[in-house]
Amino acid sequence: MSGHRWFGIAVAGCVLAVGQAFAQLAQQPAEKYIDAMNRLERGIEEKIPEVIEKLRLKPGDIVADIGSGSGSFSIPMAKAIAPNGILYAVDIDQKMLDYVADRAKKEGVTNLRTVLGANDDPRLPVKNVDVAFFHRVLHMIEHRQAYLNATATYLKPDGRIVVIDKNPDQSRDWMWLKQSDVDTWMAAIAFYPAETFDVFTDRYFVSYQRPYGNSVLLKHQSRKQ
Ligand SMILES: C[S@@+](CC[C@H](N)C(=O)[O-])C[C@H]1O[C@@H](n2cnc3c(N)ncnc32)[C@H](O)[C@@H]1O
Repeated sequence: MSGHRWFGIAVAGCVLAVGQAFAQLAQQPAEKYIDAMNRLERGIEEKIPEVIEKLRLKPGDIVADIGSGSGSFSIPMAKAIAPNGILYAVDIDQKMLDYVADRAKKEGVTNLRTVLGANDDPRLPVKNVDVAFFHRVLHMIEHRQAYLNATATYLKPDGRIVVIDKNPDQSRDWMWLKQSDVDTWMAAIAFYPAETFDVFTDRYFVSYQRPYGNSVLLKHQSRKQ
């Protein structure tokens, strides 16, 4: 078994052991988590620019990185939408947010704002979000439908909710989410799969949108890139 796989199992076991103490599923203390997330970031480092490119982020966009963790996506996304776009890094753990704010400062990123979210609501300060992005987060949120309902209220009519997560059959060492379940929760709030991207071999990457405004749904049938 590879070192990487052993590491994944060790992190999963540790997280499950402390998970009961927290309101969110498998949440763990920031000081342990940040190191684990930075190691996981190194494992997908080359994929991060590809994800940003697929999302066609551009200067001026308003993006919420939900469950921003150690900022693996927040920092490069903030750079992609600078100078006038704003990146909201949302987490339920203030220590994670402090870490991201510090990382942004060290990297000279000035268009990133941290937001302390609630378990069932990202509590964003604006209602004109272009992209709400969830990488390896939705499976940790206990009330997914409630969270997605709340997230939709902060989006522009043609704003996107982007989910990257794993199907349970794509990994045996974690409590992942079926894409078909995500599709169902999204459909309940009139968001449909508009684009799916083949960036990862071990996780799905889907952009959901409502059929309004400049929605991809009005230009093409669901498409694969
Ligand atoms: C596995 S980490 C992923 C971090 C980051 N998205 C990445 O891919 O590197 C999950 C993060 O989601 C946060 N989180 C868990 N439940 C949350 C919720 N209800 N709202 C916002 N963040 C949450 C955790 O504190 C943690 O920082």
